[in-house]
Amino acid sequence: MKQQLENIEKSAMSEASSSDSIKALDELRIKYLGKKGELTAILKQMGKLSSEERPVIGQLANKVRQDIESAISGKMSALKAKEQEMKMAAESIDITLPGKPQSIGRLHPLKIVENEIKEIFLGMGFSIADGPEVEYDYYNFEALNLPPDHPARDTQDTFYITDNILLRTQTSSVQVHVMENQKPPIRIISPGCVYRSDAVDATHSPLFHQIEGLVVDKGITMADLKGTLETLMKKLYGNDCKIRLRPHHFPFTEPSAEVDVMCFNCHGEGCRICKNEGYIELLGAGMVHPKVLEGCGIDSSVYSGFAFGLGLERIVMRRYNISDMRLLFENDVRFLEQF
Ligand code: PHE
Repeated sequence: MKQQLENIEKSAMSEASSSDSIKALDELRIKYLGKKGELTAILKQMGKLSSEERPVIGQLANKVRQDIESAISGKMSALKAKEQEMKMAAESIDITLPGKPQSIGRLHPLKIVENEIKEIFLGMGFSIADGPEVEYDYYNFEALNLPPDHPARDTQDTFYITDNILLRTQTSSVQVHVMENQKPPIRIISPGCVYRSDAVDATHSPLFHQIEGLVVDKGITMADLKGTLETLMKKLYGNDCKIRLRPHHFPFTEPSAEVDVMCFNCHGEGCRICKNEGYIELLGAGMVHPKVLEGCGIDSSVYSGFAFGLGLERIVMRRYNISDMRLLFENDVRFLEQF
């Protein structure tokens, strides 16, 4: 029996030291020390021994068990450490490598100039108003002194949701919302998208942007309008920039004007870009029509006001010398990256 125990110890020790996985070691433990294991099988025969032999063999069996156990657990921790080491090596990050550059977007030129214009007006004490792009006929036309059969509606054909609801053709609709909800003094601008049923070409798009301006207070005159617009244009295009007001007609302003800015290319001489005019048309403006004021519950014998509507695309095109409006909407990054 002593011999048997020594043999078991020998073979268990050598198997343990040659095991190369945690699983193999677990199996080894079962093979030798488990309930049906080899050592257990021998211990079951202890009963057959004489009373002198029993303690001697018992002691030896205990020693063998301890030896096998410590050999297995020693090897086990060695394997675990090795496994951990390999895992660490596989997951290690070289923090000295240079980072991967993330390409971040940038503002669209329309947004850059819109933000600039907002800043200029905020500096003059204006606030920013907002209005819906899907609008009632009333706000887009009727309240602006354009009744259903008014011929000027033809120049602003749009997309209809129902007979009564449409995509707004002008930010002037916001004038009405503001005047319905706010008592004078009023000083707002309202940037936003407008829609017209126009075919796409170098200077037209069915979707474009306007910035509306509205001031209503006691004693407001055309001089305030001109001064405000001059301040805007000088800030946008430089101090030598001149503007000119040409008489025009809008149903919701009286008197009305179209406002031109001196050509950036020829400084008023006349050239190809301004079609020999020396000036480029940028916006419509005028004194708010008394009918519009009254329709919004503002007493036109006490208050007067001016309004204007800037075409944002035109301002951006003139600012960056862009000759085709389509470039602003095509989202070609080679174009957009330049701003
Ligand atoms: N809404 C006009 C247009 O789109 C511009 C405008 C605004 C004219 C305000 C006068 C006053 O053409």
